[in-house]
Amino acid sequence: MDSNKRPETMARITTPELAEAFINEQIAAVKAQVGDKKVLLALSGGVDSSVVAALLIKAIGKQLVCVHVNHGLMRKGESEQVIEVFKNQLDANLIYIDATDRFLDLLAGVDDPEQKRKIIGGEFIKVFDEEASKLEGISFLAQGTIYPDILESDGVKAHHNVGGLPEDMKFELVEPVKLLYKDEVRVVGKALGLPSSMVDRQPFPGPGLGVRCLGAITRDRLNALREADAILREEFDKAGLNKTVWQYFIAVPDMKSVGVKNDKRYEGWSAIIRAVNTTDAMSATIEEIPYSVLHVITSRITSEVDGINRVLYDLTPKPIGTIEWE
Ligand code: XMP
Repeated sequence: MDSNKRPETMARITTPELAEAFINEQIAAVKAQVGDKKVLLALSGGVDSSVVAALLIKAIGKQLVCVHVNHGLMRKGESEQVIEVFKNQLDANLIYIDATDRFLDLLAGVDDPEQKRKIIGGEFIKVFDEEASKLEGISFLAQGTIYPDILESDGVKAHHNVGGLPEDMKFELVEPVKLLYKDEVRVVGKALGLPSSMVDRQPFPGPGLGVRCLGAITRDRLNALREADAILREEFDKAGLNKTVWQYFIAVPDMKSVGVKNDKRYEGWSAIIRAVNTTDAMSATIEEIPYSVLHVITSRITSEVDGINRVLYDLTPKPIGTIEWE
């Protein structure tokens, strides 16, 4: 039987009971596959890799070595949450690498979006590879491959994600959620006790804020973007919009305009709000965000974030606009 094909008899996992049964099945399968050997996992903090990590911690505990690479393009608080949940709460064997300087130094002055993606993807592999080669006795590589990845590609999460790993890494793969759809991964994640802020996260591109800090990334503009994005997320949460809007974020173009602050000329960047609804990300519609919420967000971002003097709302559906600005 093709192990990459979901059996037609497999019921959709929609309840905690079904999730529990799946988890127990996978724990037994992983134990049988891995024995007393060690497994390596690149833990980005995204839904899929987080659920795989939690599942494997339950199955094999410290035999799992998680590596979290902070490429400096994470959203506010993201790497901290990975450490808090996995190291502090789940007592995982977690290696945290802050590679911010490496990535930002390489990206300095690069404004072409494709080039930026290549640099981020390539450097991620390098950092992970270096770390892996320092470890001894690793026999397996765990991946958060899910069923749509198998249906859409060759089954390896590589083309679209920063988590794509070098082809010459000759590890046997451990992919416990590869037959699950995204909604099922979330149900399993909840049953494993992961927080909703991790399991119900909106999609986030592998190259992270790198695709939203438009043009050549600078540390000050990246920082402004990160702070503005955190305010947007906070206010969407408060207004309950996190439950109705599929994806929302800030993009900051490399463009300044004139403003006034404390009676002085204040040149700053614009923060562009993107908030869309979609089912498959192939097309997307624009959400009607209440003006009262937009006013609060604008007021907070322009007063709290250094370097930003305007807030704009992108009204463009996809097509013609893509969801990300890049
Ligand atoms: P676009 O901008 O093409 O985005 O309309 C469609 C969806 O894909 C997400 N996206 C990514 N997801 N790795 C990912 O896992 C990536 O490199 C990547 N780039 C874009 C985007 O956020 C949107 O949800």
